[in-house]
Amino acid sequence: MKTIDVCLSPELLHLYDLEDRTIVVVDILRATSCMVTAFAHGVESITPIANLEECLRMKAKGYVTSGERDGKKVDGFDKGNSPFEYMDGDLRGLKLAFTTTNGTLAIEKSKGAKEVIIGSFLNLSSVVRYLLLGENNILIVCAGWKGRVNLEDTLFAGAVVEKLKDYLGWDCDAPLAAQHLYNLAKGDMVKFLDSSSHVKRLSRLNISKDIEFCVTPDQYKVIPRLKNGVLLA
Ligand code: MLT
Repeated sequence: MKTIDVCLSPELLHLYDLEDRTIVVVDILRATSCMVTAFAHGVESITPIANLEECLRMKAKGYVTSGERDGKKVDGFDKGNSPFEYMDGDLRGLKLAFTTTNGTLAIEKSKGAKEVIIGSFLNLSSVVRYLLLGENNILIVCAGWKGRVNLEDTLFAGAVVEKLKDYLGWDCDAPLAAQHLYNLAKGDMVKFLDSSSHVKRLSRLNISKDIEFCVTPDQYKVIPRLKNGVLLA
C-alpha cells in the first residue's frame, strides 16, 4: 500500500527519505496559493529562489520579480505575495522569479525528492486526484513559519489525508493529527484560523481578504510541478 506522511516543518525534513516520494509543498498563506493562482492566469514558469538578492538579480534577465519578506512586498520587486496580484492576466506568458520567507525555502529543501508539486486549497481536488493516481509514496511538506509549525498548512495536509484515507497507509501520527484538525476546522476555516499566528501577522498588515480566498477549495485545476529547478504547470 502506498503511504502518506506529513512533515510539519521544513526543519524536520532530514527525518524523511525523499528519493521515492512525491512531495507536495504547501504554504497556504500565501506562497503556494499565489503560485497556483499565477499559473491559473497564464504565467509560463516560476523559478523559486530562497535568496532575496539572487531573486532581485533575475530582473536583469527579464524575469518578473515576485514575493515578500515577513509578509511585505520587497522594495524593487514587481509583485508582492497576494494572490489578487496574479489574476489580471498581465503576466500571461511571462517568467516569474519568486522568493518568500518560507514557501520558496521549503521548495528548495524538497529538491531531493523524486517529484515535487505545489499544493494549496485552491487546487486541492486536482492534487488529491494526482496523488491517488500516482505510484509514489507521498510526503506533504508544510512550509510553516521560520521553522515553526503553523495551522493553515497543517489543515491542508489534513484535508489531503481525509480525502485519501481509504487508499493510503501511514507510519507516524502527523497525518492523523492533521486529519483530526482539518475535521474540526472544515466547517469554517476562516474562523478556525482566526487566532493563528500568521493570520494575526497578516491582519496587522491589513491583509485580510487574502486569507478567505486562500482557504477556498478548488478554484483552479492547475498543478505546478518542479522540473530542473523551475515550476511549470
Ligand atoms: C511565506 O512564504 O512565508 C508566506 O507566503 C508569507 C506571506 O504570507 O506573504
